[in-house]
Amino acid sequence: MTNYERLQKDLVQNPRTWLISGVAGFIGSNLLETLLRLDQTVVGLDNFATGHRRNLDEVRDLVSAEQWARFKLHAGDIREPDDCQRVMAGVDHVLHQAALGSVPRSLKDPLTTNAVNIDGFLNMLMAASDAKVKSFVYAASSSSYGDHPGLPKVEGVIGRPLSPYAVTKYVNELYAEVFARCYGCKTVGLRYFNVFGPRQDPDGAYAAVIPKWTASMLTGETVYINGDGETSRDFCFVDNAVQANLLAALCDDDIRGEVFNVAVNARTTLNDLFVHLRNALSEHGIHYERPPVCRDFRPGDVRHSQADISKASEMLGYAPSHVIAEGIHEAMPWYVAFFRKAPLSTNSRQVSSDWLQ
Ligand SMILES: NC(=O)c1ccc[n+]([C@@H]2O[C@H](COP(=O)([O-])OP(=O)(O)OC[C@H]3O[C@@H](n4cnc5c(N)ncnc54)[C@H](O)[C@@H]3O)[C@@H](O)[C@H]2O)c1
Repeated sequence: MTNYERLQKDLVQNPRTWLISGVAGFIGSNLLETLLRLDQTVVGLDNFATGHRRNLDEVRDLVSAEQWARFKLHAGDIREPDDCQRVMAGVDHVLHQAALGSVPRSLKDPLTTNAVNIDGFLNMLMAASDAKVKSFVYAASSSSYGDHPGLPKVEGVIGRPLSPYAVTKYVNELYAEVFARCYGCKTVGLRYFNVFGPRQDPDGAYAAVIPKWTASMLTGETVYINGDGETSRDFCFVDNAVQANLLAALCDDDIRGEVFNVAVNARTTLNDLFVHLRNALSEHGIHYERPPVCRDFRPGDVRHSQADISKASEMLGYAPSHVIAEGIHEAMPWYVAFFRKAPLSTNSRQVSSDWLQ
């Protein structure tokens, strides 16, 4: 039995109360789905800035009525200290995901990104500390590595930030470490590297590369590559990120104020990603024939990224369940269904035969 399987068994036998901020978002709704399936009680906080009610509706349809009844949603804003305080009552573990993502968004509007990602983060941390929760796990980011060229990325070696977003995510780490040191809070940061999977938003100017390209392929539009296509990333399927959150929340109490890389320790170029997505869609009878078009590099983007995951593996028992191809294979049915504007099957990870051509 893996560490994660042991943990899941323990949770079912000894259920806890969890707070997920950003619960209507991509990663937050995947955390919600997993925790409800494990019969946990979940409080959710979201202001729907980038999250969607449809994500919550989808989770409701994927779990039992009894499990869904254990979820309570609070519409609120992490920039409001009162909103953060009122959701903490009775909470054992916090999984703080709420933030404004996207490097380009932060370059366009650094003030709002700062207010949500730093002021909002501090409000949540203060409220969690005052409520004496058992652990505060938060979404950090691989953007903290900034301009450091070393590969693979090791937690203790970072460079200068390349965007306002990267500044905010690094400031989160500094606050979390200081709260661990000064107030004894069990804070754990997870530096996500390009997470992808079902419910990642394909719409809007700030969509991530996998949903954006999948959307273009499904709607027959041109796929644009920022740069020459040799930019690389350590793409991380969302189930790996969910696993890391649960392991971090319940890890040894001596582990506090730490940050961990969360990815796979593999590197995929954008050119290879294009081929992965095109092949995955052809399994659904959708054949995208157009070549991708290269355009300028995007400001603020790092050239290569790959995580050393040995710290998470040794200290948390983290073992990614999916490499990129397996993750894309599981995520694709969701995108096919989403763009055909049809209901998902009861198991979102399995394509209904209606969609196979
Ligand atoms: N997806 C990735 O690849 C990735 C990589 C690194 C870090 N992260 C971090 O992981 C977290 C989750 O990202 P995601 O991809 O699920 O993004 P997302 O945009 O889908 O989810 C963020 C959620 O936070 C909510 N939110 C935003 N501002 C809020 C506010 N002021 N008050 C309350 N709720 C608010 C949004 O409505 C949304 O539901 C974020 O902190 C992000 O910075 C994500």
